[in-house]
Amino acid sequence: MPRHVAIIMDGNGRWATRRYLPRVAGHQRGVDAVREAVRASVERGVEYLTLFAFSSENWRRPPEEVSVLMQLFRLMLEQEVAKLHASGVRLRIVGDLAAFDGVLRELIARAEEKTAKNTKLVLTICANYGGRWDIIQATRAMLAARPELAGGFGESDLAPFLAMAHAPEPDLFIRTGGETRISNFLIWQLAYTELYFTETFWPDFDARELDLAIASYRRRERRFGRTSEQVREARRAPADDPPPTARVDQRADA
Ligand code: FPP
Repeated sequence: MPRHVAIIMDGNGRWATRRYLPRVAGHQRGVDAVREAVRASVERGVEYLTLFAFSSENWRRPPEEVSVLMQLFRLMLEQEVAKLHASGVRLRIVGDLAAFDGVLRELIARAEEKTAKNTKLVLTICANYGGRWDIIQATRAMLAARPELAGGFGESDLAPFLAMAHAPEPDLFIRTGGETRISNFLIWQLAYTELYFTETFWPDFDARELDLAIASYRRRERRFGRTSEQVREARRAPADDPPPTARVDQRADA
């Protein structure tokens, strides 16, 4: 079973348009699919579920659609948190939250605090998130906290400052809606993740669809740069050997 599943929930607009409905109807149905994905993930023993709800680039959408997405986000924080808490779900919201209004930021802080001790599933909602933003904010935060690293630093120095530092890297990435792009989602964290793309629009993505994605993941061999033989050998005698990491040395002589 993948420990961490990360999803780009795409195709809400097209789901609605095909039914001669306004695009926002697709987002509303998208919220039902979020509920189902959370329930199914808890049932299957997935430990981390990360959902891309609103990208840094989504502000470019028509203002009415942005406003509906904000309302849905607010409604989720007002109405769903109690249920999530009762199911043992810990909620984390990551992204450039400064762009959200004070009410939303307060709801986010309260939801995170209320669910902080839950351990069944960590549900992370990426809101106003972009992978490039994340790398830049993490680098800034790292250098502010540890200025001595300006001359050179490694992946393990940067990793604790990334927005997803609370979770292991995703094992399985799913994108619904037929596009086969990462679209500036967790570009750092997806380096070794198994990618799964489906034509299914997000509102139609249910527990059965999740099982198809997990079944595809289970058929893959994760080699992290090694050969198949090495992987089989490691399975026989597991070693504490993480994926390769790199250092960034900024001095010309480093
Ligand atoms: C992509 O579909 C979906 C989004 C930009 C928003 C996702 C939001 C939700 C599922 C509802 C809110 C979620 C939470 C967690 C509160 P699209 O509009 O790009 O679809 P299209 O490609 O068919 O136009």
